[in-house]
Amino acid sequence: MDNTGASPRETRLFGPDMLDNPYPVYARLRTTAPVLWSAPLNAWVVTRFDDVSAVLKDRRLSSDRVSTARHRYGEKYRPVFDILSRIVLQTDDPKHAELRDLIHDAFMRSTIEHYEDRIRGLCRRLLEPGLKSGGMEFLAGFAAPLPILVISTIVGVPEEDRAQIKRWCDAYSLAALNFYVHLCEDQLDYCLAEMNAFRAYLADRVAAARAAPGPGLLSALTAAADTRDTLDDDDVIANCMLLLNAGNETTTCLLTNGLYALLENPDQMALLRAAPDGIANAVEELLRLQAPVQFLGRIASETIELGGKTIGTGELVLPVIGAANRDPDAFEDPDRLNVTRPHLHQLAFGSGPHLCAGIHLARFEAKIAFEELLSATDAIDLDTDALPAGGPAYSPNFNMRCLSSLPIRMTPSS
Ligand code: HEM
Repeated sequence: MDNTGASPRETRLFGPDMLDNPYPVYARLRTTAPVLWSAPLNAWVVTRFDDVSAVLKDRRLSSDRVSTARHRYGEKYRPVFDILSRIVLQTDDPKHAELRDLIHDAFMRSTIEHYEDRIRGLCRRLLEPGLKSGGMEFLAGFAAPLPILVISTIVGVPEEDRAQIKRWCDAYSLAALNFYVHLCEDQLDYCLAEMNAFRAYLADRVAAARAAPGPGLLSALTAAADTRDTLDDDDVIANCMLLLNAGNETTTCLLTNGLYALLENPDQMALLRAAPDGIANAVEELLRLQAPVQFLGRIASETIELGGKTIGTGELVLPVIGAANRDPDAFEDPDRLNVTRPHLHQLAFGSGPHLCAGIHLARFEAKIAFEELLSATDAIDLDTDALPAGGPAYSPNFNMRCLSSLPIRMTPSS
């Protein structure tokens, strides 16, 4: 039992029994314990839109979760935490501002728009086999390869390495998104082995970029490291790891869960087919309804009052985006998909100083992907014969909410 008097069910927050559908638990928390102390998580769990928004903007809440959490895991796993401690997501100013500044230009809207032809070309290439054969496994055939191909171009790693990078990213993401809540030994061993291999690969790429600079961000960061005392090769490696990961898994989730939501709501799919210029708004609504990153973490650097509770210095706070985005005080009829919903200020990209640096890329890529998918087909249906018994299931990484497969049938456009 938590000290707020919440039901015992709340103590299994983010556990396997919440994987399929966390939203009823979130709804109960928003009403009965919007700022909940969870003893099992050793953290404050925040679920209302206004509170989550306030937490993300509050600079008294630090993003450096590594310093407090790493001692829990023992010396063996030091390399994992050495990497995580250097990424822009885990730093506060001034290091945060420096890193953010270094990657800013690569992800400006105007820079991203230069990739339009490349992204459209990739979409067409990936859709072609499915259009020819009448269907595809959408996640493996489209939603997973598209973002990694795009972000590999931007970072400047060879396209042929993407399958291996994707596998390393799975381990990286498991560590980066869950370490401050819980990771078991098996998970840590897996993360350690994969992240060491990923680090060695990127160290070789940094050496290659130093010898012969290329057009990507990895070369630009390597050049910056060579001229500053504040940045070294491990910073470059750690942040390239972050970008390769942040730039792929989240977008994969958006495309996969987004298409599934549209398949479950054929009236909404029909609206987009009739008026494709509504796709950009639909992307925001799909992110609102199914936020890929369900919760974030912050550490109170001083005592803070929130929702009538006192959060002590050093305590962990978990703002739950997945709950905030379905708060009825912020969104009318929040559990319903409404692709024409106006004035969407949803929180799937976070908010405040750590607002997603890849926001323009993610939006642009998803808009083009859905445009291409809809214009290439007259109809898309779930391939129920290829589905696992019981229907589509979510992958076990709670904090990267994504179906583990999405088989579809496609009728090419006439
Ligand atoms: C649907 C796609 C995406 C979602 C839902 C998403 C979500 C998020 C969220 C919630 C944060 C805030 C983390 C925090 O406050 O602790 C974040 C930060 C970040 N994202 Fe994304 N992201 C997406 C796509 C991308 C892409 C394509 C990139 C490009 C490489 C990217 C790069 C980053 C980076 C570098 C940060 C750290 C920013 C900072 O700490 O200042 N993301 N993202």
